[in-house]
Amino acid sequence: MADIFTSQEDEKSIENILLKGLMVKAPKWVVMRLALAHSLKILSPPDEELDLIDQKGSEYHLEQVTGQGQGRSSSTGQRQDYTDAFRGLLSVYSDEDLFADERTFKKYLQRHIRRGLREFRNGWRDSHNFHEYLYQELCAGLSSTTNQTETDFKELLITALMEIGISGQITQTIDGPRITRYSVRLEDPNHLDHILRGLDKIAFSLGLNKHGIFPVETQERKVIGLDIPRPRSAWDTISGVQLLEWAQKPPKGMILPVCLGVNVIGEPIFFDLVNQPHLLVGGTTGSGKSVCLHALLLSLLIGVEHDQLELFLIDPKKVEFAPYAKAGSKRITVVTDIKEAQKKLNALVIEMDARATAMELAGVRDLAEGHKKGVIDKPYIAVFVEELADLIMQSPETEELLIRLAQKARATGIHLVIATQRPDARTINGLLRSNIPARIALTVQKATESKIILDENGAERLTGNGDMLTRLSGEELLRAHGAYVTVDDIKATVRNEGRH
Ligand SMILES: Nc1ncnc2c1ncn2[C@@H]1O[C@H](COP(=O)(O)OP(=O)(O)OP(=O)(O)O)[C@@H](O)[C@H]1O
Ligand SMILES: [Mg+2]
Repeated sequence: MADIFTSQEDEKSIENILLKGLMVKAPKWVVMRLALAHSLKILSPPDEELDLIDQKGSEYHLEQVTGQGQGRSSSTGQRQDYTDAFRGLLSVYSDEDLFADERTFKKYLQRHIRRGLREFRNGWRDSHNFHEYLYQELCAGLSSTTNQTETDFKELLITALMEIGISGQITQTIDGPRITRYSVRLEDPNHLDHILRGLDKIAFSLGLNKHGIFPVETQERKVIGLDIPRPRSAWDTISGVQLLEWAQKPPKGMILPVCLGVNVIGEPIFFDLVNQPHLLVGGTTGSGKSVCLHALLLSLLIGVEHDQLELFLIDPKKVEFAPYAKAGSKRITVVTDIKEAQKKLNALVIEMDARATAMELAGVRDLAEGHKKGVIDKPYIAVFVEELADLIMQSPETEELLIRLAQKARATGIHLVIATQRPDARTINGLLRSNIPARIALTVQKATESKIILDENGAERLTGNGDMLTRLSGEELLRAHGAYVTVDDIKATVRNEGRH
């Protein structure tokens, strides 16, 4: 009997990676081992649902995958049987003795390989260089910045500043998960404008490519902070596991607490969706919008009592929100059918009007006051749209409904979170945009797209992978690094949902 099974989708991924990614004639197990390595980099354990395969693809024996029972290579003399190394790795990862349990070992091996293939599908676009992508994924966080390279980099920075006629001293460095903040004391305060205008040139001298340097104010006289991204191999990924932990202890007093991830120096950031009260999330394909929505959703599911919140998830792409539908939770509705979505939005507008009337009669300003006075007994409702462009293209009527909700729903406890890959004036109607005060821009391709989302440039210079600029109501622009929430984190959370 075979040991490892894959689905048809997995097989397609393997073939695609061999053909368009690795671009060499290699056996399939090469891709499977890479997938395993990728999965082991993720802190959350792979979900047990990966054991179930709808459409069977192929089957493999350990001889193929781990080289079990194979001797040394006749040509190179290298050993080819890595089974015990694999078993050791998985034992450490799962904290179980897999040397004593062959069945569990194979099960975990399959889970990790299938999860790695899934992550390749989600994270790699075949227009991108696979080797580069893989290097970034597997080596992220491996090289710690040693004193030597830090000193070198400081010198480079001083030289880059001198090249644009600025002399200064670096007085402090702070390492965040992805960026290092360099505090530069300017000899001549008149150089401040000069430095702000020269940031692109400095980035160019430092070889940062498109990734930009973001200036920050400091408390000290004549000192400016420069947030400079480190190479990807020196990033710390913020894991879904961390987010789930933070979400359990939201700041006191928030009604709908959501955690985005961390700020540039690595401290968790929360905000209350009630105060925003609607949110637009924009970014190019692969920038991390869906992952960001998942972080928001999991924070809400973990941080808000069951009878306090209903979630209404519109997913025209039909895949991203599927794991929430499986939870069987009464408070989550996932709609993938466009007609159904339109009907639901219509019903929400009616609900909004009914709530507004009830609140007027009861003499309360908003839902929170209604709850406090005990005169309104309705839960909050958060509506998530996974891709606005798809929804509006397939059902133009929904745009009007969303505008009405954005204009009036805030006091009635109905909040919108709308994501789009196409932050342009055609997709986001001005009226809709002006009624959605809070914005999150993930990496975009053009400065004009950043302007549409944030009303200012900047998001085109972010580093991708969940790097974001957020504009929350009444607050300064804030840079954040999102938590890397995976389907496994979602499944682990929604499993508890089903019990209610
Ligand atoms: N916070 C993060 N930390 C690290 N990696 C991330 C993060 N967010 C996203 N990524 C990486 O980027 C990939 C794409 O993310 P995601 O699917 O959320 O993009 P998207 O913006 O929704 O793309 P699309 O518009 O095509 O749907 C992920 O599979 C992951 O590899
Ligand atoms: Mg997406």
